[in-house]
Amino acid sequence: MAPTFTPRVFSGIKPSGGLTLGNYLGALKRFVETQDKGTEAVYCIVDLHAITVWQNPADLRHATRELAAGFIASGIDPEKSVLFNQSQVSAHAELGWIFNCVARMGWMGRMTQFKEKSGKNSEKVSLGLFAYPSLMAADILIYHATHVPVGDDQKQHLELTRDIAAKFNNDFGVDFFPLVEPVIEGPATRVMNLRDGTSKMSKSDTSDMTRINMTDDADAIATKIRKAKTDSEPLPETSEGLEDRPEARNLVNIYAALDDRPVADVLREFAGQGFGAFKPKLAELAVAKLAPISTEMSRLMQEPDEIDRILGRGAERAEAIARPILEQTYDIVGLVRSR
Ligand code: AMP
Ligand code: TRP
Repeated sequence: MAPTFTPRVFSGIKPSGGLTLGNYLGALKRFVETQDKGTEAVYCIVDLHAITVWQNPADLRHATRELAAGFIASGIDPEKSVLFNQSQVSAHAELGWIFNCVARMGWMGRMTQFKEKSGKNSEKVSLGLFAYPSLMAADILIYHATHVPVGDDQKQHLELTRDIAAKFNNDFGVDFFPLVEPVIEGPATRVMNLRDGTSKMSKSDTSDMTRINMTDDADAIATKIRKAKTDSEPLPETSEGLEDRPEARNLVNIYAALDDRPVADVLREFAGQGFGAFKPKLAELAVAKLAPISTEMSRLMQEPDEIDRILGRGAERAEAIARPILEQTYDIVGLVRSR
């Protein structure tokens, strides 16, 4: 009979560039809700994923600490949840190698994120960028995690994680790795670019006006929302009325997610009003919710040693879960352990 796995949540964010509103609503805010429900949760700053594209070392160090500050300022309690950076727990990279030998080239070649990121340049990108989804599978499975809260863009990588677990279990005739459940819920699983409602809000977009950064001040947030692309129609009564209006839908989704309300409820309040009225309300709400987080991030960043201490302690706790699972994996594969 297949074993039942104790529920455990895992998720990760790359320390490349700063945090965006997309990261906050699609990931961080939901991590905090999960933590507060009391499920055991492991949250990882995936620095080994960040270096699949070039990172300036000083910037990488800064982004890692700033992301840690972002987790804590958003409400992750490093005593309750396990919070650490990936490179401090070598089991991730070790299991990643095993999975490189389980995953098939064809599977990796079908990853849309790889195709998008490599574009016409696929001969020149790093081998790590191609192999990245198998390291992501290792991040999750080294903890036997069962649930993974992410934004919509990670769905395909989580399907691949299930394929890798299933192939490993099948190849070795074991029921060792769980088949993870993606948790992609809420009104903001895909926050869109403020200037183009058909593409995702991203920390790597060259234009800063396309996104809200968690470190933006009140003026910057208000300006970006005021200048966000919209249409000239008033807001509709129901969400069906937003179907062909990607920019309008995005701003309404952001409002709903920030205010913890269903979209229908937001539309009930604003139906019939135009963006001239809606945008200032959205800006006010965004500033009210985000300013305390960015202020707390700046405060935490004054004490980088304290952040490093928290990450180090988190890594020790993570290692205590991961190491025995790695040892069992090596044993299943037939690698001799004698020291
Ligand atoms: P990354 O910054 O690419 O490491 O993403 C970290 C997490 O944030 C993942 O769970 C992503 O799915 C989520 N995320 C990133 N951008 C967005 C977005 N625009 N909307 C919703 N979730 C996002
Ligand atoms: N690939 C994810 C992203 O780009 C980050 C990530 C790495 C991750 N490992 C993970 C997310 C494990 C969830 C679980 O956003």
